[in-house]
Amino acid sequence: MNPLRTLVLAAAGNDAVRRVVASAPVSRDVVRRFVAGETTADAIDATSRLVGQDGLRVTLDHLGEGTADRGTAERTVRAYLELLDQLHDLGLAADAEVSVKLSAVGLALGETLALDNASRICAAAEQAGTTVTVDMEDHTTTDATLRVLAELRRHWPWAGAVLQACLRRTLDDCRELAGTRVRLCKGAYAEPASVAYVDPHQVDLNYVRCANVLLAGSGYPMFATHDPRLVEIVGERARWHGKSVEDFEFQMLYGVRPGEQLHLAAEGHVVRVYVPFGEQWYGYLVRRLAERPANVAFFLRSLVSR
Ligand code: FDA
Repeated sequence: MNPLRTLVLAAAGNDAVRRVVASAPVSRDVVRRFVAGETTADAIDATSRLVGQDGLRVTLDHLGEGTADRGTAERTVRAYLELLDQLHDLGLAADAEVSVKLSAVGLALGETLALDNASRICAAAEQAGTTVTVDMEDHTTTDATLRVLAELRRHWPWAGAVLQACLRRTLDDCRELAGTRVRLCKGAYAEPASVAYVDPHQVDLNYVRCANVLLAGSGYPMFATHDPRLVEIVGERARWHGKSVEDFEFQMLYGVRPGEQLHLAAEGHVVRVYVPFGEQWYGYLVRRLAERPANVAFFLRSLVSR
């Protein structure tokens, strides 16, 4: 892994760094590029704009992760329930779903609690007329996340999985889940070489191998990447597999390559934007900074130009 990326991701776990970054007034400006805002109203505004004006679809992530506190997990669940109600009431549910991190709804306190809480969110999504995708976190949680997902799918077969091309196990997981709704991404966490490809070229190769398996299956693959080469290869492989534009979608993050999002939608593709919102933006921001050295430079420049 790129040393800058490793350094930035390591800083994510450092409390002193977190306090400095979170208290810098400029953080708000930088955060705004990647995060829709802190409130449900901010999330709804961004969704209305992306869906209504830009013809895109959305998946909303209430920020927060890794809680070991029942009260915090409960507040997260309630935030999702409130959000889903509003998506329904405003007629946005057909175009906007939610993404949930199990660590935000209590995975550290046990799989049963995470399953109960995720089930409440799935039930509310069903009532609202939309779906849920369960985000994937670092490799230590992959098995637990897939176990909880399998339980959720007994009642809500549309519950989406996320698989990370950086992990060596993922090709097998793709074979297992190819008949279902699966988001394929490269993976945003610093992972050891024992379980992950560390060479970015190997990650890209594995992404293509996994994309082929998902496109050959009967499920609904969601290709989450901003990488222009992978977007092109996926489009070409989809044609080869005889898939139409309704059979799969592209996904990109809020604030990343917005021009390309519109371009792909104008070509007729389904494009879904991952829209994060909430007060707990720190871990998310650090992963976005780590993905691209230019983002770190952008952040540091705005700190010194104040
Ligand atoms: P890569 O990082 O190689 O970037 C390719 C190009 O895209 C860059 O050269 C740049 O032009 C642009 N780009 C990428 N990231 C950028 C950024 N932050 N700022 C500006 N430009 C950028 N991960 C995970 O582990 N679990 C999950 O559940 C999810 N969920 C998820 C949902 C969606 C919709 C997306 C798009 C991504 C995720 N991810 C994720 C994150 C994913 O694993 C990965 O870290 C990022 O998408 C970056 O990888 P790319 O495929 O874009 O390629």
